[in-house]
Formats: sequence, C-alpha cells, structure tokens
Amino acid sequence: MADNVQIVPSVLPCDFGALGADLERLEDAGVDKIQFDVMDGHFVPNLTFGPDIIRSARKYTTLPFEAHLMIYAPENTLERYVEAGCDMIIVHAEATTHLHRTLNQIRDLGAHSAVALNPATPVSAVEYVLDSCDMVLVMTVNPGFGGQAYIKEMESKIVALRTLLETRNLNIPIEVDGGISPKTVTGAAKAGATHLVSGSSIFSSPLGLKEAVAELRELALKARNGSL
Ligand code: DX5
Repeated sequence: MADNVQIVPSVLPCDFGALGADLERLEDAGVDKIQFDVMDGHFVPNLTFGPDIIRSARKYTTLPFEAHLMIYAPENTLERYVEAGCDMIIVHAEATTHLHRTLNQIRDLGAHSAVALNPATPVSAVEYVLDSCDMVLVMTVNPGFGGQAYIKEMESKIVALRTLLETRNLNIPIEVDGGISPKTVTGAAKAGATHLVSGSSIFSSPLGLKEAVAELRELALKARNGSL
C-alpha cells in the first residue's frame, strides 16, 4: 500500500489573476503536487477553466500537475491537458461511458491515470479498472465548490477501497478531496488515504500556508503510523 503522504493544494482558492505567484507560494510552502479543478458547468454546477490556464501556469513551478476533470466526456479532451503539462489526469467514473478505455487513453498519452468516485458511487464501480489506474480519488464532498463540509461516511468507502487494493496487491495511492482540514484529515488518513487535497483549509489557515501544509502532513503521518 502506497504510504507516502502527499499534500495536494486545490487551486480553487487561488487568485486566478496572479496564479503564477500563488503557485510559487505553494511550492515554497512544501506541497507535493498541484491539483487543477476543471469544471464544465454540466457534470458539476460550476465552471472553472480549461487546459490553456494550466499551460500558462506550467512555467511557474516544476511540481507535478494533476487535472481533476469534473467534466462530461473527458475522453474528448485528454490530449490537451497532457500537452498543457499535466502529469496525471483524473476522470470521474460517472462522466465517461467507456472508463476502461479512457484510463488507458491517458496512459497511452504518457500521463498517469486516475479515477474519481463521487460520494454516491460505490467502490465496485472501479473494481475492473484498477489495473488501469495509478491512483483512485475518493470525493469527500459532492464536487463543484470549495469550502464544503467533509462527508465522514466516505471513510468506510476508503477502508473498502484500501482493502480491495491490498487484496489485489495493488500499490496505488488513495487520494481524498473535499473538506480536508486538521479536523478531518486524521479520519481520512486512518481509513487509508495518503494523498490529501485541500483548498479552503490551507489557504484560510491562521498559521499561514507553510505551517498549514506542515500541520496537515504531520497529522496525516501520525494517523497513518498509528500514533493518533
Ligand atoms: C470539488 C473541488 C473541491 C476542492 C477542495 O468540489 O475539487 O473539493 O478541490 O476544496 P476544499 O478543500 O475547500 O473543500
């Protein structure tokens, strides 16, 4: 089981008029990779940005980029996100008709593939595509906006997914996204999540970005090694 804790900022709270500067701040704060929340206004009730914003952001940091495609029919635009500089593409199991094909299309383009599960979607939805995945993202909110409340019921799904991965001897990380904060990170990490996406919590922390990232990492590591 992949056990390297990674802190992954969502760019949703960033100042999109000064995204480059925010990315430099995030790198300085010690994050492990950057998540770009791509939303189409149909799969989720919000509209954010496309590959051109990611392309313009690429030159500001060497950190890995992952595109979280909260869009219908992501298979139609995968190539543009890879060309824009994304190292990983995350597609939703609910948003593509041929998930197995889409995940392998991502790999054929030279990027790492990942599948995301909305809160209502069971682990069984990805049971037959895990060999085509480099990560599984368990949404801990209904996607579309930052600042939502963490759905604690998702922890049993994380446990079920971790058990399935261990049974299949698949050493791929579980990422969680939505409402991750010092109050919720321990439960998600104890359940088996190691990649922790956070937006509003780290950007609004009174500790400042660097300390907020360090705090999340410390809590997650302690939860993973049983000392919490
Ligand atoms: C889906 C988005 C958010 C974001 C994290 O709605 O993907 O989950 O990344 O937002 P916070 O950390 O503010 O819940």
